[in-house]
Amino acid sequence: MRRIVVTGAGGFIGSHLVTALKQRGEWVRGVDLVPPGFGASDADEFEVLDLRRPEQAEYALRGAQDVYALAADMGGMGFISANHATILHNNTLIDLNTFEAARIHGVQRYLYSSSACVYPEYLQEETDVTPLKESDIFPAAPQDAYGWAKIFGELMNRYGGADHGISTRTVRFHNVYGPNGTWTGGREKAPAALCRKVAQAVDGEAIEVWGDGLATRSFCYIDDCIEGILRLMDSGFEQPLNLGSDRMVSVDELAEIIIGVSGKRDISLKHVPGPQGVRGRNSDNSLLDKVLGWSPAVALERGLAITYSWIAEQVNLQASAAREALV
Ligand code: NAD
Ligand code: GDD
Repeated sequence: MRRIVVTGAGGFIGSHLVTALKQRGEWVRGVDLVPPGFGASDADEFEVLDLRRPEQAEYALRGAQDVYALAADMGGMGFISANHATILHNNTLIDLNTFEAARIHGVQRYLYSSSACVYPEYLQEETDVTPLKESDIFPAAPQDAYGWAKIFGELMNRYGGADHGISTRTVRFHNVYGPNGTWTGGREKAPAALCRKVAQAVDGEAIEVWGDGLATRSFCYIDDCIEGILRLMDSGFEQPLNLGSDRMVSVDELAEIIIGVSGKRDISLKHVPGPQGVRGRNSDNSLLDKVLGWSPAVALERGLAITYSWIAEQVNLQASAAREALV
């Protein structure tokens, strides 16, 4: 049994990761700025701490052998396109303090959660984009401050690991979706936002889709994301690695799949102005395949069916709570 700390354990990927680590029989401390968003955490200990504060980061990592550093101020395009300075400030502090705490405590293995947002905008200007491979990161020109902060975090991991003898992993997630992901409030990404809009619509209505619907992305189901994280930690591979699906779809295709799994027959799309991010993005999984002997396998239709069902339930619960509040 290893002593593991998961930061960002109250969030989407962190909460699923804690559950998976507990199923493997590990001892886990979850740490987050806020209590778990959806039900109790499976962690042995859960502590509400602010990793922007060095002393709280040091306290968070006491006794840890492995750290999965998932905490970040993060969201979909609606959030990251409108909060550059705050994101740069919060995420660089979180990453600096968490890595320094790992150094102080002599942590053995440290996994840093980076993002496809590190890749240069100049490689993502077309809808039929060439899939992004790990070496594409430099010369660096990410679109948003969020991507620059993730590059800083990657460098902290690379140089800090080498200088202080910590075995590091750096994983670049490509748009992860699934149950327990943020689905409302402004930080939600396209899969959850569109699931919510379809769940709230009745047949004959249109849902709003930002942009012209032609922008492309790949979307990775949470079970694949967790499997990839665990395999990467076990692999010993210390260079940055993509973790995403390599099935690229347009935003309109994503919306149509969601409408299909919803069982509603007559929902149309209304394109409206909104933050669009890069024009096209896909993951090149050659290195992932080679290093892990595995790549994400859950079909988008299946992952979205599960996600839609969970979000439709949240929408119903919220509506019932609102009705009860009126009585
Ligand atoms: P999330 O927002 O659900 O989880 C992040 C958690 O970090 C939240 O619970 C938040 O409260 C916590 N946090 C924020 N500030 C903190 C602080 N100062 N101290 C302690 N905790 C703090 O996001 P997620 O989707 O679970 O993402 C996990 C990690 O993966 C993040 O680092 C994110 O940048 C990265 N990532 C996610 C995706 C994706 O598609 N979900 C894509 C690329 C990268
Ligand atoms: N969020 C959202 N909400 N996006 C929408 C919507 C909507 O209602 N309608 C259409 N879109 C479009 C956006 O305009 C964008 O072109 C595309 O869907 C994808 O948007 P997001 O899912 O919000 O973000 P992203 O894929 O550009 O970036 C996300 O993934 C990165 C990793 O791949 C973000 O979550 C980043 O923080 C993350 O690092």
